[in-house]
Amino acid sequence: MLRFDGKVALITGAGRGLGRSHAELLAERGAAVVINDLDSAAAQEAVSAITAAGGRAAVATGDITKDAEAVVNAAVDAFGRLDIVVNNAGVDSPSPFGPTAVDSIRRHMEINFLGTVAVTAAAWPHLVANSGRVVNTCSPTLSGWEGESAYVASKGAVYVFTRTVSIAALKSGVRVNAIAPTAYTRMASEADLPDALKENLKANYTTAMVSPIVAYLAYEECSISGETILAQGGLIQRFSLAMNDGYTNTEITPEDVKDHLEEILDDSSAKPLGVVGSESETSLLDLFE
Ligand SMILES: NC(=O)c1ccc[n+]([C@@H]2O[C@H](COP(=O)([O-])OP(=O)(O)OC[C@H]3O[C@@H](n4cnc5c(N)ncnc54)[C@H](O)[C@@H]3O)[C@@H](O)[C@H]2O)c1
Repeated sequence: MLRFDGKVALITGAGRGLGRSHAELLAERGAAVVINDLDSAAAQEAVSAITAAGGRAAVATGDITKDAEAVVNAAVDAFGRLDIVVNNAGVDSPSPFGPTAVDSIRRHMEINFLGTVAVTAAAWPHLVANSGRVVNTCSPTLSGWEGESAYVASKGAVYVFTRTVSIAALKSGVRVNAIAPTAYTRMASEADLPDALKENLKANYTTAMVSPIVAYLAYEECSISGETILAQGGLIQRFSLAMNDGYTNTEITPEDVKDHLEEILDDSSAKPLGVVGSESETSLLDLFE
């Protein structure tokens, strides 16, 4: 059984939903968990439930966009160390693209992306000292979602941040991965989705089907880094970037692009693009060899 005895895990946005479920599972498996949320009542409620079930938990209330350092310090003060950061806190508001897009994208970037960066950065010395684990939260909407340009852009930023920071992390024994979940939570219940789809989510997409993936990625023997794992209703998949063989022409003209579009876009030769600097598959560096 994968156990977390002696480990301390900080989970952001863990007062409810997916974050709370991750915290409950890690606590059940022996970790001391630090529950961050800007909703202090929800955070306290989660701590009480985990403690009542025999787990070890402490609150670190705060807004990850402003209080990242204080939240990390509170985690270290509570249990004396920090081994695992689960960057889960996030928001999702409809953001049809148009004249107000910049404000909306800035807000989503601030919380979903820069909040993730800020907590990871503040925790970094502890993670390096303890060969720690970071689990970020992307979204299956990474592939594009109508009316959600701000949310999807912010999750895209988390995706590439995960990939790129994992390179530096590997050298110090830290692993940085992400999940892209679907689960019925407050966020899902408030989303602009048809009722039938919400009913399906409620019945078949539980947070309990997502948290085990977070637990594996947070585990000390987790062997992967820079990956994003889709976790939806019991289906677990790799979300990859891929490149095909493409078309080569050193005298390229606009007409060549037009005439060879099919070859340029042909996915049949596509291969997953590994993380630069890691040992996985094709790397961007291979292009320059
Ligand atoms: N539920 C899904 O289907 C789904 C799908 C894709 C991605 N996600 C991602 O999973 C994560 C959790 O989502 P959820 O569905 O549990 O949402 P939720 O709204 O149910 O819970 C999110 C929690 O984060 C907290 N939070 C928000 N902003 C914060 C901040 N600045 N500082 C601290 N806490 C903050 C909220 O108070 C809330 O308790 C989010 O990053 C979300 O984008 C969820």
